[in-house]
Amino acid sequence: MNQHHAPASPFRTSLLEENTGPGTNVTANPTMGEMIAARFSRRGFLRGSLAVTAIAATVSPIALITADNARAASGSSFTFDEVEAGVDADHHVAAGYDADVLLRWGDPVFTDAPEFDPANQSAEAQERQFGYNNDYVGYIPIEGSSEHGLLVVNHEYTNEHLMFPGIVSIVDGKPEIAAADAKRVAIEMAAHGGTVVEIRKEGGKWQVVRDGRLNRRITAKTPMEVTGPAAGHDRLKTSADPTGTQVLGTINNCAGGVTPWGTYVMAEENFHGYFQGELPAGHREAANYERYGVPEGSYQWGNFEPRFDLSKEPNEPNRFGWIVEVDVNDPASKPKKRTALGRFKHEGAESIVARDGRVVFYLGDDERFDYVYKFVTAGTFNAGDRAANMNLLDDGTLYVAKFAENGSMVWMPLVHGQGTLTAENGFESQADVLIETRKAADLLGATKMDRPEDIQPNGTTGTVYVMLTNNTKRKADQVDAANPRAENAFGHIIEIVEEGGDFAATTGRWEVLLKCGDPSVAEVGATFSTATTANGWFGMPDNCAVDSAGRLWVSTDGNGPKATGRTDGLWAVDTQGDARATSKLFYRVPVGAEMCGPLFTPDDTTAFVAVQHPADEGENWKEFGRPSYYDDLSTRWPDFKPDMPTRPSVVAITKQGGGKIAV
Ligand code: FEO
Ligand code: CA
Ligand code: CA
Repeated sequence: MNQHHAPASPFRTSLLEENTGPGTNVTANPTMGEMIAARFSRRGFLRGSLAVTAIAATVSPIALITADNARAASGSSFTFDEVEAGVDADHHVAAGYDADVLLRWGDPVFTDAPEFDPANQSAEAQERQFGYNNDYVGYIPIEGSSEHGLLVVNHEYTNEHLMFPGIVSIVDGKPEIAAADAKRVAIEMAAHGGTVVEIRKEGGKWQVVRDGRLNRRITAKTPMEVTGPAAGHDRLKTSADPTGTQVLGTINNCAGGVTPWGTYVMAEENFHGYFQGELPAGHREAANYERYGVPEGSYQWGNFEPRFDLSKEPNEPNRFGWIVEVDVNDPASKPKKRTALGRFKHEGAESIVARDGRVVFYLGDDERFDYVYKFVTAGTFNAGDRAANMNLLDDGTLYVAKFAENGSMVWMPLVHGQGTLTAENGFESQADVLIETRKAADLLGATKMDRPEDIQPNGTTGTVYVMLTNNTKRKADQVDAANPRAENAFGHIIEIVEEGGDFAATTGRWEVLLKCGDPSVAEVGATFSTATTANGWFGMPDNCAVDSAGRLWVSTDGNGPKATGRTDGLWAVDTQGDARATSKLFYRVPVGAEMCGPLFTPDDTTAFVAVQHPADEGENWKEFGRPSYYDDLSTRWPDFKPDMPTRPSVVAITKQGGGKIAV
């Protein structure tokens, strides 16, 4: 979700990814700005896994920044030779590794699927081919294998100007995209959703198994069931679904997760962009939709699919913004929208089994000044009986985070009838609390964050990493300890340690692990270790992964020629000991792309990464010209090679000759 492109661009990234719409949090919740004076007095760094060392200090902010920058470093624990940061049209991986394109937008995922033909697309073909803009990548081993499994991939959104030849024209010197027709909208809807596809490593290289019996495409039209406390509520009923339990499709699936019981969860993020039209006057959902920025109207689906037009189907937006669970073992199963996990612009849903067997899902709401959540199941995980886990996501407690200035934090339950979540405040039931999760969290006084993206629990160290991608709208008087920079252009990473090391705990400690950006520019205030090279720093953390050794890998969205002079990529970040906050560049993407995934096989011998929207925002790279049409790549890129990820692509990274990555 690039935040740093030319604002005049008419293309989707500038419309959907800014997250600046009327959904912006306008409540008066404290940003802890009143504690600015105190924020530099707390120096409680978390060292190692659980130790907390409070270093009282009364030194100046400048001195503290210097101290952070000087955080001693004995060198990275990741053994690879760093890639040189930069900008060009190809992808680059550390020497001694192969980065092989495994699946591209349009590649067949069934034996009967047609080969990709960009000049002759159809919805029917797209429904049998890999979708567009791959974001989340998960791997579900078959019989425990790291060489044979199911790849599950989200297809977040579509870039029509890159997908469809000849639809951009220059009007008064500016690019304009032709209005959509029904056929184009049908292709766009088929390019959304997700893919489940069997893959196998043969001769050291990953292959797609096109006749895999579990292969599946999920789209914006796939029938789904709504479950949990909001299922069947009047606010979810439409003319096509008087039960309020049956929905067609899932949209804007950003990150996600694989549950301990082997299902695939997809996070519905920027759902507001798909709706258009006006609510009937005085409609009860007006305030609800305003908080979420509905309608944003950057797609034209409502012209052909009336359910995306608020004037015709006012409740439809309440049926999106959920976590969707897919039983990959049954390709005919209906994916389930699990309302117990709340409704917001869900980034991801990474999970871990707590000490007592309950399962904890960490959830970000990716909007400026929105919140960090977690969901704790009521029931416990049964490792010996997969079926016993299949409805764990319908019953549990959703919490929202409040980060205190002193390094403590509390997870506040979003439970109807507790505290302010009562009928007097508009919540008649738990369904209301979940449909308007943001409003409920507003009332509880949750901490307004700098765009919470992926949140990853680390079972090895007991920590939880929160990617906060950026927030240039934060003003100096809105700065707080957990969001410590005004006009935060480069984002930061927070580390949480739950009380007693229990992921289900309702209190914890936290620390800023890393303030991102160029550490050589003092004003930026970045806190990479001194062992981090000029290639090793990054901005805009978005997704992340933890390898089996418990080491953190961070992928980014929003770097580029203008923002940071480097493309997005995958960085290896030390979190422990003297090397803490040391970062190294392992892989970088072609210009215009963002880096999603990443995901390691259980044995750490493969890293899957997702190259999303390569060639987008070509206007920011002078060699590229503008606009950047998909059909012009071979002429615009003189060094074009067929194996470059020129379409949205999943790339498999392996060590030449085999072995664990970065060991
Ligand atoms: Fe789709 Fe928050 O990135
Ligand atoms: Ca992103
Ligand atoms: Ca993301």
